[in-house]
Amino acid sequence: MLNAYGRQMTESEVAEGVHRQFVGGLWEPVGHRQFEFLVERGLKPSQRLLDVGCGCLRGGIHFVRYLDPGNYYGIDVNASLIQAAERFELPAAGLTDRCPHLLVDGQFTFTRFATTFPVAIALSVFTHLPANSIERCLVRLAEVIEPGGRFYASYFESPRPHHVEPLAHPGGVRTHCDADPFHYHFSLFPFLIEGLPWSVHNLGDWQHPRSQHMLEFTRK
Ligand SMILES: C[S@@+](CC[C@H](N)C(=O)[O-])C[C@H]1O[C@@H](n2cnc3c(N)ncnc32)[C@H](O)[C@@H]1O
Repeated sequence: MLNAYGRQMTESEVAEGVHRQFVGGLWEPVGHRQFEFLVERGLKPSQRLLDVGCGCLRGGIHFVRYLDPGNYYGIDVNASLIQAAERFELPAAGLTDRCPHLLVDGQFTFTRFATTFPVAIALSVFTHLPANSIERCLVRLAEVIEPGGRFYASYFESPRPHHVEPLAHPGGVRTHCDADPFHYHFSLFPFLIEGLPWSVHNLGDWQHPRSQHMLEFTRK
């Protein structure tokens, strides 16, 4: 594990709701905003959605409720977060009969779902990944996103290319581009997809409470 998400939640932490803080807090606003965003971009209940780094379903709960049963697919490296979703969040929301597909996998092996997707999202995931893990994610996603399909990924924007000075992070913390939470300049992403069947646009501000920007990748 390369980031803080290697730590497993204990059962008592999950019972106390610590898992909601562990994925970044702001449970309601960030959960709602990612759901509203994809609906604004045209997500339909009849479509399969891949939620990359789904955590304990901060957004997933809303997607599972909205999508036709069986159309939500979530994958995460942290087994305890998937368990918190299965044992706590889905029952609490009365959504266990909606048949979400949840998988523990840290290598972005999306083919394990044995299906393809018109839409995928990675919310607050690139913010915790080094660039070579983002590259792996994009390579693996190209195998399962349908032609014309979209992948939305939020990220923290660094002020300019080659920026190496400390950055002010929401909450007043000082951080560096090359430490978790990672900050990237948009120019990295066209570089990462060179030779891959993707195009990428920066959608910029999308009203994320911590000012993450949003990338839109389109599968060629
Ligand atoms: C800030 S949380 C966001 C979770 C979720 N998207 C949400 O909005 O609540 C980041 C998530 O990315 C997951 N993650 C980090 N590296 C990963 C990897 N290599 N593969 C899958 N998930 C990963 C973490 O375990 C964590 O659940």
